[in-house]
Amino acid sequence: MDLGYAGRRVLVVGASVGIGFATARMLAEEGAELLIASRDEAGIAAAAQRIEAATGRRPATTTADITQAGAAERLLAEAASRWGALDAVVDAVGGSIRSGFEALTDEDWLANYGFNVLSAVRVVRAALPLLRLGNSPSIVLLGAAASRMPYPNQVASNVHKAGLLGLTKTLAGEYAAEGIRVNCVAPGRTLTRLWTDRAAKMAAERNVTAEDVIAEFAHEIPLGRFGQPEEIAAMVLWLSSPRAAYVTGQTVNVDGGIARGLL
Ligand SMILES: NC(=O)c1ccc[n+]([C@@H]2O[C@H](COP(=O)([O-])OP(=O)(O)OC[C@H]3O[C@@H](n4cnc5c(N)ncnc54)[C@H](OP(=O)(O)O)[C@@H]3O)[C@@H](O)[C@H]2O)c1
Repeated sequence: MDLGYAGRRVLVVGASVGIGFATARMLAEEGAELLIASRDEAGIAAAAQRIEAATGRRPATTTADITQAGAAERLLAEAASRWGALDAVVDAVGGSIRSGFEALTDEDWLANYGFNVLSAVRVVRAALPLLRLGNSPSIVLLGAAASRMPYPNQVASNVHKAGLLGLTKTLAGEYAAEGIRVNCVAPGRTLTRLWTDRAAKMAAERNVTAEDVIAEFAHEIPLGRFGQPEEIAAMVLWLSSPRAAYVTGQTVNVDGGIARGLL
């Protein structure tokens, strides 16, 4: 199936590693024009190099910390000067704090809100003027299976990722008349830095190996294993493509079956 990415102008935020990187690499394979961003200059340059080596197409790169006011505007100004319009934006920034409820401070809550929700709000708000000038415009946010099945010991991201369900549905309604689609992909446990770091930390605490920790968490997943970043990215690519022109306001789990609720 041709997803229609040839020449499509796409911004991927949070693209140096993990799901954002896999998305950017697969978009390059499909012929998209890319601007990729994350905080660390060396990290995003290395990502561009890896993408070029794998696909022959080198994405444009920039740095931005989208938890900082003004960063999303600067990022989108770069897209504007490069292309004058934007066809799609993917925001792959976010994460959790592993902590019991009572140990979380106001600062923890605000930081996790900034990381998962306000950063997405800012990217979307800054992108809208350019998306209005784009072709088959699309926004894809990265949520989490936890928004439908809260995980123990990570209440802040359970709350904030659930907020993205509401954000996605609300924005989809608000911008449908302009032809701008808004969807969210909700990964389950996926083997990225986020989990390799966490598994290493838990392994040290418990005096077991990181592989033991991953195996323990994989046991709860109906498909019996963690997801690969490319398996999440495949859904991002489809939702963000003109092939999904009749899909908006949806949060799609790609989670090996871990979220067992009906909705
Ligand atoms: N992996 C999972 O198991 C899992 C499960 C559920 C949901 N998710 C969600 O999926 C998304 C991607 O997760 P991932 O596992 O791929 O994460 P990851 O491996 O930690 O990668 C995150 C990416 O975002 C960049 N980034 C982080 N903070 C940023 C900021 N403030 N501004 C700009 N860029 C920033 C990172 O690069 P720099 O550090 O250089 O900035 C990196 O490129 C997140 O929203 C996460 O919550 C992941």
